[in-house]
Amino acid sequence: MVVLDVRHLRYYYRTRRGAVKAVDDVSFSIDSGKTLALVGESGCGKTSTATAILRLLPRNVDTYEGQVFLDGQDVTAFSNEEFRSKVRWRGISMVFQGAMNALSPTTRCGPQVAEPLRIHYDSSGEEALAAAGEALRNVGLPDYVGERYPHELSGGMKQRVVIAMALVMKPRMVILDEPTSALDVMTQANIINLLKRLQKEIGVAYLFITHDLGLASELATDVAIMYAGRIVEIGTASKVYSAPKHPYTEKLIHSVPRLRSEETPEFIPGAPPDLTNAPLGCRFHPRCPYAFELCGWSSSELAATLARQAPGVEIEDVSLAGVDKYDTKDPWKLVIWPGKGTPASSLASSLRELAAGRRSSVPFLRAIEKIDERDGRVVVRLHPAQMPELMGEDDQRAACWLLQKEGGGSGTT
Ligand SMILES: Nc1ncnc2c1ncn2[C@@H]1O[C@H](COP(=O)(O)OP(=O)(O)OP(=O)(O)O)[C@@H](O)[C@H]1O
Ligand code: SF4
Ligand SMILES: [Mg+2]
Repeated sequence: MVVLDVRHLRYYYRTRRGAVKAVDDVSFSIDSGKTLALVGESGCGKTSTATAILRLLPRNVDTYEGQVFLDGQDVTAFSNEEFRSKVRWRGISMVFQGAMNALSPTTRCGPQVAEPLRIHYDSSGEEALAAAGEALRNVGLPDYVGERYPHELSGGMKQRVVIAMALVMKPRMVILDEPTSALDVMTQANIINLLKRLQKEIGVAYLFITHDLGLASELATDVAIMYAGRIVEIGTASKVYSAPKHPYTEKLIHSVPRLRSEETPEFIPGAPPDLTNAPLGCRFHPRCPYAFELCGWSSSELAATLARQAPGVEIEDVSLAGVDKYDTKDPWKLVIWPGKGTPASSLASSLRELAAGRRSSVPFLRAIEKIDERDGRVVVRLHPAQMPELMGEDDQRAACWLLQKEGGGSGTT
């Protein structure tokens, strides 16, 4: 049975540089007692997805759209007060990123764990403290921890306190945002085992946020790979791990170091995009080794690369000499003004030569559809880009044009 169903969630922040499209049309669902791992590089929008689900919005929210269903009920239709009293903590709770360092240093752990009960159920102090004691025991902590201040506990113990707090209201769903990232590997393993045990005992569902694919594989039944504010691959963990369909997932898997392998881990060239000005078409195209004409090289990217000014694009020896300036007003048409003494015809033939000779090894050259000379300028037509949607069967879908091109196989596996 589906506990959490997120549909077309969009969540942008307003900044002076424009809207940061941190969550851009994200959809997924989680069944009761299951775990969906949300995996991706730093800044791809994982925490923003969680705070958007819980409607914890900052002042600079620019866009907040989509629907969230909890146990089949559309909670986006709730008023703020109804959402606070019925959904947050009771229905969906969250272990925030770095939360163990945010425990109040002046309050003992027992009363801190009891706080949600006092606020939401109006429980008496004693009742709430007794329930907090039980929650602390359930996460494997000895009774004296309730009497201790956070600074008297180890990192692993503090993290257990935070998990107890998230579970004290017996929610159906817990969002765990990097719950073990500040802990050593042994303590990490203990916390993961604890989460597994609790899930088995109480049937809670988890949205497990991490940038660590290895860790995600320990807990997750399903995996969603996020890149630049979008889910680019989603499916059952076994399928996504053994046969990734999206080139980004493939690169992520190959970037994990393996203890018993001689192979050097791969790295992903370039940098994640600026979310105020994400690349057109597939957002991964500037870093994708398989990019082809449908994937979305725009005129400004082509100009920046030819002028060797493209940030995050590592193409060593492609450049165009004899250019005065580039006009990139139309994203799918690049107009090049030749420099003094360079005829447009020779500039056009240099570019044609480059495009023909290096097409197979330099992905962005595949986006060039046509090169013409007009009024002493060179006009380059590019394939118009489109953003790929998730394609494939329900147990594994990926947002990559290769799947359409090759009728279901990406060629990346
Ligand atoms: N309040 C805010 N105002 C403006 N931009 C923000 C705000 N909060 C987050 N962002 C931006 O939104 C994008 C997504 O941030 P988010 O914290 O969701 O990423 P993340 O995937 O959780 O990263 P990490 O793995 O580092 O925790 C980033 O570019 C971030 O700088
Ligand atoms: S659509 Fe696929 S092939 Fe094209 S850039 Fe994106 S990930 Fe690469
Ligand atoms: Mg985060």
